[in-house]
Parts: sequence; C-alpha cells; structure tokens
Amino acid sequence: MRIRQHVDPTALFFERFHGVPPVLDPARELEVEIGCAEAQFLFERAARDPSRSYVGLEIREDLVELVNKRAKVTGLPVTAVFCHAQLHLPQVFGDARAERIYINFPDPWFKRAHRDRRMVDPVLIAGVAKLLKPGCELFVQTDVWDIALDAMSAIESNDHFTNRAGEWSFWREGNPYGVRSWREQNAEETGLPIWRLMFDRT
Ligand SMILES: C[S@@+](CC[C@H](N)C(=O)[O-])C[C@H]1O[C@@H](n2cnc3c(N)ncnc32)[C@H](O)[C@@H]1O
Repeated sequence: MRIRQHVDPTALFFERFHGVPPVLDPARELEVEIGCAEAQFLFERAARDPSRSYVGLEIREDLVELVNKRAKVTGLPVTAVFCHAQLHLPQVFGDARAERIYINFPDPWFKRAHRDRRMVDPVLIAGVAKLLKPGCELFVQTDVWDIALDAMSAIESNDHFTNRAGEWSFWREGNPYGVRSWREQNAEETGLPIWRLMFDRT
C-alpha cells in the first residue's frame, strides 16, 4: 500500500470528522496514542498487556486502514481512528476516559513556517485534559527541540497537569514502558537526542 508522506491538517477537509469511533469495552482500561502512524508502539503495548484497549489517532487515512487490518490479523486489541486530533477527541471518545495518553514524535511540522500545522498545541492539550482520568499520565517524546519546547509550554500552561520531573523540566528517566515507537527506535539507532515529558493529570 502506498502511504502518503504528510497531509496538511489545516485543509478544510479535515475539519469534519470522517472516522469511525472505536467500540470500547468500559471494563477495559484505555491507552491512547495521538499521531500513531503504523502504531508499532501500541501493538507492542497490546502484546505485553492484552487486557487493555489501545486506540491510535491518525490523520493519514491509509495508515488507519493498515493498522486496523493488522489488528484483525493479529487479534490484538488495537484500533486506529481517522481524525484530526485537535478537533475530534469528543467525537472519537464520547464519555470514555483514558488511563494513559502517549504523544510519540508528533512532527513532521518542525519548520517554523509550518508551526500552525503542529499537533501539540494548547487546543490539543485542553482536549487531552478532558480525556485523561485524574491521577493518570501523559507521556510525550520528540527528537525535535522546537517541538519539545512547544509541547512543554502548552502542557505547563494548562492547570490540569503537574510535571513529574519538576516545573519546566524534561523527564530524564527514559521511556518507562518497555516498548518503542518506530520513530523512537529510529532516533535511538541513529543517535539522535530525545526529549521526553511526563505529566500527571491532577
Ligand atoms: C512522525 S509521525 C510519528 C508516528 C509514531 N507516533 C512514532 O513515533 O513512530 C507523527 C504522526 O502524527 C500524525 N499527525 C500529525 N498531525 C496530526 C493530527 N492533527 N491528528 C492526528 N494525527 C496527526 C502524522 O500523520 C504522523 O503519522
């Protein structure tokens, strides 16, 4: 399958929700990755702990299809939803709440000229604050310094989060989940620095 490299999230088409909301079992705890691409991270999480539900949000529709096909073949509890994460969290999740939210390498819009296309902004973080259960965690990682700073600023400026590493500080204890996203694996193998953030929903 030919996968599009990028899509422009500011295009009018993405304003309306075209995806299919996941069928969630309220008895299962929910983990969400925002901007999941091929969802390597979620598939590995699901293989480790298949008692939970894993939902990946993705703006590239062909990747959503790919993930959902793989979930069917493997039988792992992973679902991808085609959506624009800043705009559609209520349509995707309704009243459901997540135990954990991951934002792994939320580029590709690292150039300043494309700043308005970036995913982690105050609007996304306000949505994340509603979706995440109190006491639960938001984990962010990126190899792009500008994006790390944007994310830090958006989360620190939201009253619903506490930075586990201390205010305006990066998380220095690595990725604690024992699984890696594709971009994370690539960054580690090529020796790129990775900036991580760990926040608790207060
Ligand atoms: C660089 S990839 C990282 C993928 C994966 N998380 C990883 O670490 O390997 C970022 C993903 O976020 C998706 N994305 C960007 N903006 C988005 C948005 N507003 N809503 C949903 N997904 C978005 C992109 O299409 C892309 O697949």
